[in-house]
Amino acid sequence: MNILITGAAGMLGAAVMDVLGREHQVRGVDLPDGDLGEAGVAARLIAPEIEWVVHCAAWTDVDGAESHLDEALAANAGATAHVAAACAGRGAGLTYVSTDYIFDGRGDDGGYDEDAPRDPLNHYGLTKARGEEAVEVLDTPWQIVRTAWLFGDGRVNFVKTIRRLLGERETLQVVDDQRGCPTYAPDLAEVIGFLVTRRGHGIFHGTNAGECTWHGFAQEVARRVGTDPERVRPCGSDAFPTVAARPACSVLRSWRLEEAGCPPRPHWRDAVARYLELLESGAARHP
Ligand SMILES: NC(=O)c1ccc[n+]([C@@H]2O[C@H](COP(=O)([O-])OP(=O)(O)OC[C@H]3O[C@@H](n4cnc5c(N)ncnc54)[C@H](OP(=O)(O)O)[C@@H]3O)[C@@H](O)[C@H]2O)c1
Repeated sequence: MNILITGAAGMLGAAVMDVLGREHQVRGVDLPDGDLGEAGVAARLIAPEIEWVVHCAAWTDVDGAESHLDEALAANAGATAHVAAACAGRGAGLTYVSTDYIFDGRGDDGGYDEDAPRDPLNHYGLTKARGEEAVEVLDTPWQIVRTAWLFGDGRVNFVKTIRRLLGERETLQVVDDQRGCPTYAPDLAEVIGFLVTRRGHGIFHGTNAGECTWHGFAQEVARRVGTDPERVRPCGSDAFPTVAARPACSVLRSWRLEEAGCPPRPHWRDAVARYLELLESGAARHP
């Protein structure tokens, strides 16, 4: 297939380029190629030969979205509406990458199924939910792939931050009252590759297997770098106030990937080990 990947310079977009590039003809675009929030840019970038678009580009500054709602709306909801309209015009399929933040974050039921109602808990979640709404009305094939707690070969991510802090401080405090599903970008890219190649349709939850708190996640990083995990101490979210509200539970449960025949995703602990190996090997794009 002839596939366009937006946000190709980002953490997930680069991993999707690698995975889809093995089997398909891929072209990556990012902000220097044009701001997708501006009218006409998506229609220009989505050339007639494009059969599928994997839309990874997004405003991902969660706290910044609270004070820059219009810009975040343009980059997430507006850009996605432009991409969706251009796909419809070309008869191309669309994969939109979305987030756990479209839910209310209370997780009363211990997590969210694919058909749980959207109820965003902050501005970033609202902008991504609006993006979902622009995609699910398409007549052309579409997929919404929600993910969470993404880490991988990017400029900043939780694993890299914890690894660095363990080198700088004797002990760290990490919040223990927020649960989620850590997800390694290359593992999510494999899921997206599976869905695109099979032209799957609908909403999917794509994370690594397992769940934990940020504290448990950080302790695993400590274990894997060969230091005492007890150096990572638990604390409540009130110790680290954030501008945007964070979900107490954003566990994404998956049924639809299984129904579609997608191979089981590796456990997040295994994914942490592979990412740390990449960092240690010196082969990471963003060491
Ligand atoms: N990171 C997470 O924990 C997480 C969790 C759940 C879902 N997601 C979703 O996963 C997807 C990929 O996230 P990521 O972490 O890989 O993001 P990322 O590393 O920030 O990459 C996003 C890319 O999109 C570009 N971009 C931003 N606004 C744009 C615009 N208006 N037009 C064109 N390009 C634009 C960015 O350019 P600049 O860097 O120059 O701005 C960046 O290169 C996003 O849809 C995000 O919402 C992420």
